[in-house]
Amino acid sequence: MSLNEYIDHKPTIETDRLILRPLLPSDTDALKEWMPDKSIYTYWGKNPGRAEKDPALLFEKIAKPAKSFHLGIADKRTNKVIGDIWVYRIEQNRMATVALRLAKKVHGRGYGTESLSAMTKFCFEKTELKRLWTEVDVRNTASCRILEKCGYTREGLIRQGRMVNTWCDYYIYGILDTDFRI
Ligand SMILES: CC(C)(COP(=O)(O)OP(=O)(O)OC[C@H]1O[C@@H](n2cnc3c(N)ncnc32)[C@H](O)[C@@H]1OP(=O)(O)O)[C@@H](O)C(=O)NCCC(=O)NCCS
Repeated sequence: MSLNEYIDHKPTIETDRLILRPLLPSDTDALKEWMPDKSIYTYWGKNPGRAEKDPALLFEKIAKPAKSFHLGIADKRTNKVIGDIWVYRIEQNRMATVALRLAKKVHGRGYGTESLSAMTKFCFEKTELKRLWTEVDVRNTASCRILEKCGYTREGLIRQGRMVNTWCDYYIYGILDTDFRI
């Protein structure tokens, strides 16, 4: 399938312990447990927004599906959603940004690395994407670490640049499909 086909028919990606899959209205209670937690957004330059405080809003009318992947990260044993991951800002089906967040109570168990690695593999093996990248606040050590473990290169430092709603020093991390195949 091409990237455009996956945009219309969102993929499900399985790892050893997780399933990355489209979010469903039946996930609302699970999302409510962690999505409003302010601490997740410390390095995002924002507070929880309306839909994060009230995840039921995520399932209200979507006139036109966004050109992105937004998948829930579910624990395979329970099917409970413990985080989510995006591939967005897709440019000419060649370059896209990645981002993810996990419930605080599951941090440090390797789920971030497992999710990002699976999504990166999917993008390069199943779609035409050639570059994935992201911006990371320099203080966000866990995020830098998982990106590096997944093969992303720290490509640069932006000093006091704009990240979402804040101004901070942030790194650019990127990976090419050719890096991935090495
Ligand atoms: C970033 C995030 C997804 C990482 O998920 P996770 O499941 O905790 O990550 P992992 O367990 O796979 O790996 C975390 C790594 O960072 C390291 N780490 C975590 N906090 C650290 C700290 N304060 N200092 C040094 N290393 C740290 C861990 O030791 C681990 O590395 P190791 O495997 O070499 O020991 C999670 O912290 C999160 O959701 N943060 C809030 C949202 C966010 O900032 N998202 C990233 C922006 S896109």
